[in-house]
Amino acid sequence: MLAIESSCDETAAAVVERTEAGELAVLSNIVASQHDLHQRYAGVVPEIASRAHLEKILPVIHEALASAKLKLCHVDAVSVGIRPGLIGSLLVGVSAAKAIAWSLSKPFFGIDHVEAHLWSGLLGQSAAEFPALGLVVSGGHTSLFHLDSQMTPTLLGSTIDDAVGEAFDKAAFMLGLPHPGGPHLEQLARGGNPQAHAFPLAQTDALQFSFSGLKTAMLYAVRGVPAGRGKSSHFTRSHRDLPQGAKADLAASFQRAAIASVLRRLREAHARYPCKTLCVGGGVVANQALRHELMVFAVERNIALRMPPQEYCVDNAAMIGGAAWMRIVRGDAGDPLTMPAQPNSALASAPTMRGTR
Ligand code: KG4
Ligand code: ZN
Repeated sequence: MLAIESSCDETAAAVVERTEAGELAVLSNIVASQHDLHQRYAGVVPEIASRAHLEKILPVIHEALASAKLKLCHVDAVSVGIRPGLIGSLLVGVSAAKAIAWSLSKPFFGIDHVEAHLWSGLLGQSAAEFPALGLVVSGGHTSLFHLDSQMTPTLLGSTIDDAVGEAFDKAAFMLGLPHPGGPHLEQLARGGNPQAHAFPLAQTDALQFSFSGLKTAMLYAVRGVPAGRGKSSHFTRSHRDLPQGAKADLAASFQRAAIASVLRRLREAHARYPCKTLCVGGGVVANQALRHELMVFAVERNIALRMPPQEYCVDNAAMIGGAAWMRIVRGDAGDPLTMPAQPNSALASAPTMRGTR
């Protein structure tokens, strides 16, 4: 199966194949990132993103096929991330996938990007035992799910403002780090004291997430409380006025608070919905400190943890192929080519999408 992903700022294609043992093997996984193009805006600019996808989509598909040592005529099915995302970005991958499926007369699968993140820990792993809890933490989504089976997940809670990855990116921007800031903030945090700042944990409904208070606390800690009132209100310092050690302390304290906030909801969800498996996915799962906390959480409760390796955390097409494969195993024959690309997920009620800051 050729799998394609273009929902935000990564143009990706992968080839996945059923092994003789009936499992799924990833033969190639190519990701062309646009981070350099969006760098100066400190966020993803939708128009720039869709134009870059147009330039990259065919070379990336060709590279995925070539590194799997296959040709287009060998493809038996096509899958694509069809929602949620930036609509101009989605349309590029979806149009390419539909055109290939139509020209080869092969089945077409439109896959929900959030669901693909949710199942990404199952790629190359044994199937999950149910009931399970699901956690997706990325730049666009922060959602908790209850899973009775591999059918439609039930949304338990999501963020009421920023996604956790977006909060990481904004905090990193405040510290003068490059976009996307999550991995840079993690690196800076390694040299800092996580207890240096007692950042607040959001007081939302137990299974909802919120990161705007943490973000404001971080802003004031970096730039100081604004002087003046109303229109004359202004900050008196910036990250340039802080020594490196102070920045590292801020990064470490922010990271600790953001992760504590995620784990608190997870503990609450597990108390209400005891589970056998925890499936996690999304770009923020690439964070080593979060990975450690998730492992401890699972070990302490004797839960099987399905956590993707780092390459399948941030946006990629292998996870799209994996989610489509799960549908094929259930006997699903695919979607009509009339299926539209959509900005919103059917799973998360109110997804936030990354935009310019
Ligand atoms: O899943 P993803 O590639 O895109 C969305 O679906 O949104 O996630 C990207 C997000 C970005 O906000 C990025 O900063 C964050 O994941 N991220 C990290 C790390 N690596 C990526 N956040 C914290 N620590 C990391 N190591
Ligand atoms: Zn994603």
